[in-house]
Amino acid sequence: MQDPVLPSAAPMDEPHKPEEFLKRFARIGEHCEVFGNALILNPEVIELGDWVRIDDYCRLEGGAGIRMGTAVHVESFSSIFGGGTVEIGNYLGIGQGARVITGSGHPWEAVLEPEFPEDDLWVRRKLRVVIEDYAWIGANAVVLPNVRVSTGGVVSAGAVVTKDVPPWTVVAGTPAKLVREREPFEILPEHWKPDARPTSLL
Ligand SMILES: CC(C)(COP(=O)(O)OP(=O)(O)OC[C@H]1O[C@@H](n2cnc3c(N)ncnc32)[C@H](O)[C@@H]1OP(=O)(O)O)[C@@H](O)C(=O)NCCC(=O)NCCS
Repeated sequence: MQDPVLPSAAPMDEPHKPEEFLKRFARIGEHCEVFGNALILNPEVIELGDWVRIDDYCRLEGGAGIRMGTAVHVESFSSIFGGGTVEIGNYLGIGQGARVITGSGHPWEAVLEPEFPEDDLWVRRKLRVVIEDYAWIGANAVVLPNVRVSTGGVVSAGAVVTKDVPPWTVVAGTPAKLVREREPFEILPEHWKPDARPTSLL
C-alpha cells in the first residue's frame, strides 16, 4: 500500500548537478548536494564544507568569494550577490527567498564611466557579509552589505538587516531590531546523525 504521507518512491531523474560541475568549485566537501536548477556563477571562487545543500532555484554569484562551513542549507529562491565576499559558518540555514547582498553589484562602472563621480562609492562597493555558526536567516529576509550575523543570530522572515546581529538574538522588521534573546547551544559530534536527512524528502 502506498505511504499516505510520503510521495511514492517512483524513480526520479537525477536532481543534482553533474560531477563535472561540482569539480569546478574551489572546494567541495563530503556529502554535498547541489541541485540541478541552482544557478551558480563562478563556482571557482566558492568553497563548500561538508553536508552543504544548495536547493533548486537559488542564485549564487561567486563575487570576490563565498566560503561555507559544515551543514549549511541554502534554500530555494534565495540568492547571494553583489560582488563582495561572504563567509558562512557551520550548522545554519538561509531560508527560502532570502537575499544576502555583498555590494552594489551593478556593472555600471564599465558602462558609464567617467560619468559617475569618483566619490559616488555606493556603485563601487564590494563588501563582506559574515554569517556565523548556528545562525538562521528567515524566508525573504535581506542581509545588507557589511553586516555580521553573529553566532546563533536569527533573522526573522522578511527582515531587512542593516546592522550587525548580536550573538544568540532574534531580530525582526525593517530595519531589523532585536525582538528577543535565544538560549545558546552547541552541536557536538555525537549529535550529528548523517543518516537522518528528512529535508531530502521534501
Ligand atoms: C524567527 C522567528 C521564528 C521568531 O519567532 P519567536 O521567537 O516565536 O518570536 P515571537 O513570535 O515571540 O515574536 C517576538 C516579537 O517579534 C515580532 N516578530 C516575529 N516575527 C516577525 C517578523 N517576521 N517580522 C516582524 N516582526 C516579527 C512578533 O510580532 C513579536 O513582537 P511583539 O513582542 O511586539 O509581540 C519568527 O519570527 C520567524 O521569522 N519565523 C519564520 C521563519 C522562517 O522564515 N522559516 C522558513 C525558513 S525557509
